[in-house]
Amino acid sequence: MEVQGVTRRFGGLIAVDDVNFTVSEHEIFGLIGPNGAGKTTLFNLITGLIPVSSGQIFYRGQKISNLSPYQIAGKGMARTFQNLRLFKDLSALENVAIALDIHNSTNLLSGILGLPGARREEERTYGEARDLLALVGLKDIENKKAGSFAYGDQRRLEIARALALRPQVLLLDEPAAGLNPTEKVTLGQLGASHLCNE
Ligand SMILES: Nc1ncnc2c1ncn2[C@@H]1O[C@H](COP(=O)(O)OP(=O)(O)OP(=O)(O)O)[C@@H](O)[C@H]1O
Ligand SMILES: [Mg+2]
Repeated sequence: MEVQGVTRRFGGLIAVDDVNFTVSEHEIFGLIGPNGAGKTTLFNLITGLIPVSSGQIFYRGQKISNLSPYQIAGKGMARTFQNLRLFKDLSALENVAIALDIHNSTNLLSGILGLPGARREEERTYGEARDLLALVGLKDIENKKAGSFAYGDQRRLEIARALALRPQVLLLDEPAAGLNPTEKVTLGQLGASHLCNE
């Protein structure tokens, strides 16, 4: 991914000012800056949530800075949000299953009619969702509502949801916020063992 001269203005405020960097395959790239430095804004620009004021963003040589969020997500980019975005009234398992559902081929009608193909796909989806929850260390609380989770657990659930999109690029906005030191080490190990090897 290449970010070239990216700038974003909000009225008179320059939130992101001529940012340039390249992220290579299998690289873990950290973006560090104080509060208000423009990190989240840059994530919003990369994922197409807001348009750039100037500059360009390329992914695998293709310009993505003029595409919509769903088109950019379709190219294999997933993200988490600093202000968590989970379905709070659904269980952890359901939260991940919904994210996985994007890959399913059976349509809504076959699901409603309970056709065998749809049922098989549903079973596979829940199986994969359990694997992802195990990966981030949340398997034991898969049936609890996401809204009742401790903050750190909600963060890990967001990461499981992002991984469910089977991304090629994973953008984590403040992934360690709210985690205790032990949880931070666990998260680092997850990054080292799983994400790099994919
Ligand atoms: N939609 C918006 N409209 C106006 N100003 C905005 C908007 N989004 C962000 N800003 C401003 O842009 C600047 C950068 O904010 P941003 O949230 O990107 O910083 P950050 O590096 O993610 O900070 P933090 O570490 O607190 O998460 C701030 O001054 C913020 O107030
Ligand atoms: Mg931020």
